[in-house]
Amino acid sequence: MRIDLITVLPGLVRSPLDHSILQRAQDKGLVDVRVHDLRDWGLGSYRQIDDLPYGGGGGMVLRPEPLFACIEACIEELQNDLGEPYDEIIYLTPDGETLNQPLANRLSLHKNLLLIAGHYKGIDQRVRDTFVTREVSIGDYVLSGGELPALVLIDAIARLIPGVLGDANSALSDSFQDGLLDAPAYTRPPEFRGLGVPPVLTSGNHEAILAWREEQRLAKTQQRRPDLFPPEHEESVE
Ligand code: ADE
Repeated sequence: MRIDLITVLPGLVRSPLDHSILQRAQDKGLVDVRVHDLRDWGLGSYRQIDDLPYGGGGGMVLRPEPLFACIEACIEELQNDLGEPYDEIIYLTPDGETLNQPLANRLSLHKNLLLIAGHYKGIDQRVRDTFVTREVSIGDYVLSGGELPALVLIDAIARLIPGVLGDANSALSDSFQDGLLDAPAYTRPPEFRGLGVPPVLTSGNHEAILAWREEQRLAKTQQRRPDLFPPEHEESVE
């Protein structure tokens, strides 16, 4: 998958992309993330990228000219590199649709994504109207820019691409993947400061372990996220 990310803070996004699973995904050639500095398309000798909002109010709005130029350059570069268009051009914004696991699953099936991280008071609406095919929020709270949301989205997508995670089953059993929260996890030692491990997990009985995990997942989901609790299980947890 190719992911292009337009940002005014390239330094902020590089470190997370260069670590752990995102780095491994790129090293394996499964994900190709390219960061584009909007400032390179800034206006005049000050490389201006933002301006005061028409109509007044606080904050700065990213101007349309640098964004149009940068997005058009990305579209052209992708066409030259792969002969393909973007499947989606996504703007990260608190007023977008809320990211959830089904949306991450759907986006992970695409080949080419362009992400736009806004800043200050957002981006000029004409950019959204002209290019953006989807607007995504990572939750009902406001961050100071779209960089962290873009990284969240990239991580949520990349780990679903076959071959990225060491254990292919791992992503499937994640919280939310089948609508339930995940079961508690334990590792060695079997006893630590007087705290033990549920005996079933060390029993070697795989059926019993699966049943225990399912029971734990149902109980945790009903307790913490009754909104997610599937109606077919309504009776199975006390
Ligand atoms: N930019 C600022 N806050 C955001 C959020 N919650 N989701 C996506 N983009 C954002």
